[in-house]
Amino acid sequence: MSASLPISCPQTPAEWAAYYRLRYAVLRQPWQQPPGSERAPDDDAPTTTHALLLAPGGYAAGVGRLHPCGPGQGQVRFMAVQPACQGRGVGRRVLHHLEQAASQQGLTEIVLHARAQAVPFYQRLGYAVVAPSHTLFGCLPHFLMRRLI
Ligand SMILES: CC(C)(COP(=O)(O)OP(=O)(O)OC[C@H]1O[C@@H](n2cnc3c(N)ncnc32)[C@H](O)[C@@H]1OP(=O)(O)O)[C@@H](O)C(=O)NCCC(=O)NCCS
Repeated sequence: MSASLPISCPQTPAEWAAYYRLRYAVLRQPWQQPPGSERAPDDDAPTTTHALLLAPGGYAAGVGRLHPCGPGQGQVRFMAVQPACQGRGVGRRVLHHLEQAASQQGLTEIVLHARAQAVPFYQRLGYAVVAPSHTLFGCLPHFLMRRLI
């Protein structure tokens, strides 16, 4: 399914709505976080790169974002795949898209804070655990991971 569908930055209001709807549904709603908590202040920064894999029907199958965070370094945040689409290569495609964007921006390293359950996904895609990091919502331990690109 996902291999033939393009990944791009959301353009229309409907695409932005689908983008944030998936972020909220996968990363915030299950922990009773309020609507709006899926948005970050620097989402609108011109240096932030957004990736959306839009499925037929106009819903978001996968999303993620990248921002520069240091000399040569970019951070990936808000990776989320629609539950029905998980395990089918969507996350891999979104992450590769962001890595390519990082490379085009002259970045040489990606860092991210992975939820414990997502650590094997990132390891599969070449990332290594650096150290434990924060615990989100009091119950979701995260791990700082990195990969040279
Ligand atoms: C984590 C997430 C983004 C991965 O996306 P996905 O589309 O399910 O992953 P993919 O199908 O692209 O998987 C790519 C590879 O990683 C492996 N993988 C994915 N999740 C895995 C897991 N939990 N454990 C072990 N391997 C995993 C896949 O088997 C696949 O390996 P392959 O090369 O042998 O085929 C997605 O499952 C998700 O949204 N999870 C819930 C939200 C979340 O945790 N987001 C990350 C926040 S840091």
